[in-house]
Amino acid sequence: MKKIVILISGGGSNMQAILKTSKQRDWAARFNAKIACVISNTQEAKGLAIAKDLGVETRVVSHLNFKADENPRLAFEKELIKVIDQHEPALVVLAGFMRILTAHFVDHYAGRLINIHPSLLPAFTGLHTHARAIEMGCHFAGATVHRVTAELDHGPILAQAVVPILVGDTPQTLAARVLTQEHVIYPNAIERLLTDER
Ligand code: GRF
Repeated sequence: MKKIVILISGGGSNMQAILKTSKQRDWAARFNAKIACVISNTQEAKGLAIAKDLGVETRVVSHLNFKADENPRLAFEKELIKVIDQHEPALVVLAGFMRILTAHFVDHYAGRLINIHPSLLPAFTGLHTHARAIEMGCHFAGATVHRVTAELDHGPILAQAVVPILVGDTPQTLAARVLTQEHVIYPNAIERLLTDER
C-alpha cells in the first residue's frame, strides 16, 4: 500500500479536499494508496479535527518544543522526520504547512515531497501572494502544485490553475476564488503522481 502523509498548520481545506477525493475516487482500490496520517506543527490547526472526523490518524509535532535547542529548526525537522517515517510514505504532501524546510528535510524526501502555493509560480513566491498580485495590477492569479526543493516555492511545476482578478477584488475574495481551484488541482496532481503519469 502506498502511504501518503499530509502536513498542515491551519484550516486544512486542501487536506480535506484530498481526503474526500481519495475516498470518492477510491484511491485504495485504484492506486493501492491511502492517506496514512495528518501531521500538524501546531495543536491549534483546525484541520486536525476534520482529519479525525474523516477517520485519519493525526499527530502534532510542535516546533515550539525545540526552541531551547542549539539548532531549533533542525531539531524540529529531525523529530518530524521520525514521526513521518513511521509510515514509510510514498508521498509527503504539504498543505498549508507554515514552516520553512531546510535542505536536510527536503533531501530526505527527494522525489516524494510536494507543495501547493497560492500564486502562479514563479511569480509571487513567499507570503501575501494575493495582495501583491492585486497591487501589481495582475489580471490573473492562481495556484501551483510543485515539487519541493530547498529553495522556497521553487521546484518543478506539476499543476496550475488560473483565475481572473476582478474589479473590486480584495486579497480575501481573491484567496477564496483561488482556494476553490486549489481543491481541484491538488487531488488531481496527486492522482497523476500515483499513476506515474508524469
Ligand atoms: C492555501 O492557500 C495553500 O495554497 C497555502 O496555504 C493555504 C492553506 O489553506 N500553501 P488550507 O489550510 O488548505 O485551507
